[in-house]
Amino acid sequence: MMENESGACGTGRSGEYREAASEAIAGLAARIAEEIRENGPIGFDRFMGLALYDPAGGYYARRTGQVGREGDFFTSVSAGPLFGLLIARHLTQFWEDCGRPDRWRVLELGAHDGRLAEDILDHLPEDALAALEYAILEPLPKLAAAQAERLGDRVRIAGDAGDLEPLPGMLVANEVLDALPCRLVESDGSEWNELGVACEMVRGLRSASEEASRFTYQSLGPAAPLTESLPLRPAGYRTEVRDNFESFLKPLSGLVQRMLWFDYGFERDDYYADSRAEGTLRTFHKHRADDNPLQSPGELDITAHVDFTAFREAVEACGGQVIRFENQSRFLTEVGREWLLSLEGRTDPDALKLVRNFQTLTHPGQLGSRFHVMEARFD
Ligand SMILES: C[S@@+](CC[C@H](N)C(=O)[O-])C[C@H]1O[C@@H](n2cnc3c(N)ncnc32)[C@H](O)[C@@H]1O
Repeated sequence: MMENESGACGTGRSGEYREAASEAIAGLAARIAEEIRENGPIGFDRFMGLALYDPAGGYYARRTGQVGREGDFFTSVSAGPLFGLLIARHLTQFWEDCGRPDRWRVLELGAHDGRLAEDILDHLPEDALAALEYAILEPLPKLAAAQAERLGDRVRIAGDAGDLEPLPGMLVANEVLDALPCRLVESDGSEWNELGVACEMVRGLRSASEEASRFTYQSLGPAAPLTESLPLRPAGYRTEVRDNFESFLKPLSGLVQRMLWFDYGFERDDYYADSRAEGTLRTFHKHRADDNPLQSPGELDITAHVDFTAFREAVEACGGQVIRFENQSRFLTEVGREWLLSLEGRTDPDALKLVRNFQTLTHPGQLGSRFHVMEARFD
């Protein structure tokens, strides 16, 4: 995920759309407030799950268009078609290594509006394409509709992993793990406590006379055993933990032989380093990053970096084995070596554009070193 260095962009939404969107967002906030009033404070993972995926008001569920210039953030996909082209080369190699089966599958997760799928499909060789089922696992109906509109019968869209039978294949997912709900913990110097979300009614948030709900953090008590693999940190150190990687991976692990995950994050030692005392939780809205996810659930993207050590443990617990963990720059340079050589000597605008695209994806100052690739095998 990248901010736009030039700052906020216009959204081009109509007034009517804005009204419907603010109603959906207000409705979501009211439902979360109601749940807290009835049952007490909720875990941050529950709050994040509702803020992003609530069917009526969730940030990802209620519309498309979050990614790209007109949206809230850029990803490697919005940098241009090259990301898909290079992934297509890796997938073709996989198909060849499997002995060129008559039927094979690419399974994409978090396909958003189908752009990466389109870029991959446009760059697979004819023979690999003829044998391919490109499946997208998409639980959100609005995103599934956008994918169907863009890709038609080039893809199969499934709402649930259980709808797919196993096939030789590879899963591809860009920036999905960072969007999985996480739990929040804070050290008091002698132990970790979990932070949940409470709610208070205040006047003057939206207008002087109207009461509105304001969400606040509240301790839920000792976080153990959630934090058993974390080193204790000084009082006030706040961070995130995901305990849902294994349950998320399990239904996927029987469907493909390989998985390729792109995301930003660190190994555990680095993730919970002394210096990262405020964690990695961020929001994105119109290309601006902020750090208050409690503000306006449904309107902002919420993300936290990936603890790749925890993810590796989940892969192993699901019977898989990590065969690659490296930064995006190294991976794409290796996969694209022959393609890069084929560009040598070309000075035409198309070639120069592709080279710029490659630099965005691989330069350490842009996406190259912040993003990592984890590949796992499940056969
Ligand atoms: C940051 S966006 C990335 C979109 C796209 N892959 C890209 O790189 O531009 C995260 C996406 O992950 C999807 N997502 C999160 N959890 C998911 C899950 N359990 N199954 C499928 N998609 C999921 C969200 O709906 C959202 O579309």
